[in-house]
Amino acid sequence: MRKKFNVTKNLRKIIFNLNQYTAGRSIEEISDKYNLDPSRILKLGSNENVLGTSLKAKKAASEALKKVNIYPEVTSDKLASKISKIYKLKNVGVVVGNGMDHIFEMLARIFLDNGDETIISVPTFSCYELCTIWAGAKPRFIPLIKDSYQLNVKKILSLISKKTKIIFICSPNNPTGNLMKAEDIKTILESTNKIVFLDEAYIEFGGKTLVSWIEKYPNLIIGRTFSKIYGLAGYRVGYAFIHKSLQSYYLNSITPFVVSRPAQAAAFAALDDNDFVKKSIKMAKEGREFYRREFSKAGIKFLHSDANFITIDTLPLKAKVVAIRLLERGIIARDCSTFGFGGDKLLRITIGTKEQNKKVLQALLICLNSG
Ligand SMILES: Cc1ncc(COP(=O)(O)O)c(C=O)c1O
Repeated sequence: MRKKFNVTKNLRKIIFNLNQYTAGRSIEEISDKYNLDPSRILKLGSNENVLGTSLKAKKAASEALKKVNIYPEVTSDKLASKISKIYKLKNVGVVVGNGMDHIFEMLARIFLDNGDETIISVPTFSCYELCTIWAGAKPRFIPLIKDSYQLNVKKILSLISKKTKIIFICSPNNPTGNLMKAEDIKTILESTNKIVFLDEAYIEFGGKTLVSWIEKYPNLIIGRTFSKIYGLAGYRVGYAFIHKSLQSYYLNSITPFVVSRPAQAAAFAALDDNDFVKKSIKMAKEGREFYRREFSKAGIKFLHSDANFITIDTLPLKAKVVAIRLLERGIIARDCSTFGFGGDKLLRITIGTKEQNKKVLQALLICLNSG
């Protein structure tokens, strides 16, 4: 007789350590739950670009739709070489992925074995932990320095061992918003030959990229995305700068055709839309300034941000409580409890347009002051 199917016996052991990824809430979900008009909901919980998408990108994508019966370029080479040309770096290549999230999957595939370790400064973006666990490796967490949210370089260096494969750094960091000090990143790179993955998903909004450092430090890989500054989160395009000596190994391991034809076309065209990029940066800068000024006046504790979001400290209230109160008013912000490591007092808000920021401020003043 056929034996009964045993679910748990078929799964890899590490799968039991995983929980489903917690994404920002959607407009549909919140309008259903709170019986709100979807057109009045402000979606400010996922750091998307509230200005929408570059028109040039949209046009290119709809043109590409005419050829979706044909496979796209296998590793998005045209897009990769356009990005390379912009940066003019000799020994540095560009690899493209299905969002930066796919680049993390590739890191796990290429670098991590069972029993290896990664070092992650927390609170931060959860995908570094996820890709470590997928590979059967172990994440070692080091809290960012209290209040400044900077890297604890001494601790990071003291945790490096034979087992260490990747040190993850996020700058500007999600969810705290601050750039990490370049001299700290340099100290780490000067002290180790382990892979250092620097996540620059938000760098365009207020920082200076360290891409040129890869020439000197071949162990440095820098991740970027089209989801934020280019407003292409729905198309899923990310990329990484990687030393030429590693690039062919990366490309040999990649899943073919991971970026769809319209997505490659949209990203390619978005690179030419400097006006859209400038507008997006201006909006983030002005929004941060507005919030800094108003939060200071109102006595709301906030973290310094160099990104397209700003994070407040909700104590003595829990961030979760404030997030629910905002949802009831049609504002989706991100309760950072799921980030762990002190995130339960942090509420992250994507910078919006002037009108949106004013609405958020008014709602926050009510939600933070109602006991
Ligand atoms: C720090 C950071 N890195 C990477 C990503 C993922 O980017 P992508 O949309 O390209 O997968 C995000 C998304 O929110 C992020 O906050």
